[in-house]
Amino acid sequence: MSDALPPRLLVTGGAGFIGSAFVRRVLRRHPVVSVTVLDKLTYAGNRANLVDVESDPRFSFVHGDIADAELVDRLAAEVDAIVNFAAESHVDRSIEEPDAFIRTDVYGTFVLLEAARRHEHRRYLQISTDEVYGHVPEGSSTEEDLLKPRSPYSASKSGGDLLVGAYHATYGLPTLLTRASNNFGPYQYPEKVIPLFITNAIDDEPLPLYGDGLQIRDWLYVDDHCDALEAVLVRGEPGETYNVGGGNELTNLELTRAILELLDRPMSLVRSVPDRAGHDRRYSVDCSKLHALGWQPIVGFAEALERTVRWYVDHGDWWRPLKSGEYLDYYRRQYGDRLAAGSSVD
Ligand code: NAD
Ligand code: DAU
Repeated sequence: MSDALPPRLLVTGGAGFIGSAFVRRVLRRHPVVSVTVLDKLTYAGNRANLVDVESDPRFSFVHGDIADAELVDRLAAEVDAIVNFAAESHVDRSIEEPDAFIRTDVYGTFVLLEAARRHEHRRYLQISTDEVYGHVPEGSSTEEDLLKPRSPYSASKSGGDLLVGAYHATYGLPTLLTRASNNFGPYQYPEKVIPLFITNAIDDEPLPLYGDGLQIRDWLYVDDHCDALEAVLVRGEPGETYNVGGGNELTNLELTRAILELLDRPMSLVRSVPDRAGHDRRYSVDCSKLHALGWQPIVGFAEALERTVRWYVDHGDWWRPLKSGEYLDYYRRQYGDRLAAGSSVD
């Protein structure tokens, strides 16, 4: 087991929410590590997320697709490890149009694994999700539990996970796999519930709460997630899977109240709207395996939510341009009829 990060990392999906937080953190904390980001810059990818590191000589950016085997092979030849964040990541979009999820989350993962194998990388880290375990009515999922995905998103992520396991078992590739709970923090695209509700509330727009709002998610601050990923890269056992949870299980209704309180906005902004198809009621992960590597979340939930709300209040210049064009078309498709059919929760 090595005690340092591999010195040359290829970070795929590094212009997205979590990937960019990881890149900023690694370059800040590890003076000898260099990072190449490969990102397709889909609607969710944003060079503005990487503005803090653009001028760092240890950073380079390549605009491209993880499913492009030739490009990936060329980049993989120059690094010691791949950290794969690249994915289609939004459940609602996977319900509307699953194709890109299969191509990126399954086939793209295969392309990366092949390149890592060919170039005999020291590590391959796949960033996955607690959603692969499906709905968890009670208790918490361990890494040994069966995968029971119920959305095209979680099914495509499960496909990627299974390939990672196969590449370790069959070819001895030193893989690592993490399954994290719901992340939140700065730079999250405003389609996910926390940035959507914060930015809508800032503008006194309705907050579309699905169904009865009693679904439970375990909230994990993005910096704590990145800390866990570093611990796994450095101290994780090749071939192993590690759950990453924040330990903050809340109903969506409780979360919504907390956001509105921080912004001093009324509950009358909340609209109860028709539910997401196949909506998982609860996720919960057992993180004892990761705790044994020495990781614990550091930022408390209340402080992390406050920091996040403050960041969106202060960074309209980042999110306002995103809420235009394709976003507005998506918003109308996803929420137009729902909001019309919705009712107040007061
Ligand atoms: P995101 O949607 O913000 O970012 C995804 C990034 O991947 C974007 O920059 C996008 O341009 C890029 N990308 C998409 N398809 C690509 C392709 N074919 N080739 C190259 N780049 C491509 O996602 P996120 O929330 O930062 O999630 C990152 C990873 O973490 C994903 O794999 C996701 O499944 C996983 N995850 C997310 C959460 C969460 O709560 N957000 C929780 C657990 C796991
Ligand atoms: O659990 C980890 C997963 O968390 C990640 O793998 C995914 O990439 C990430 O998108 C997230 O998935 P969720 O579906 O849980 O996140 P989302 O922010 O879309 O929704 C969180 C909860 O809020 C969920 O129960 C649905 C609800 N919701 C969401 C939206 C967008 C609403 O009530 N209204 C909304 O408009």
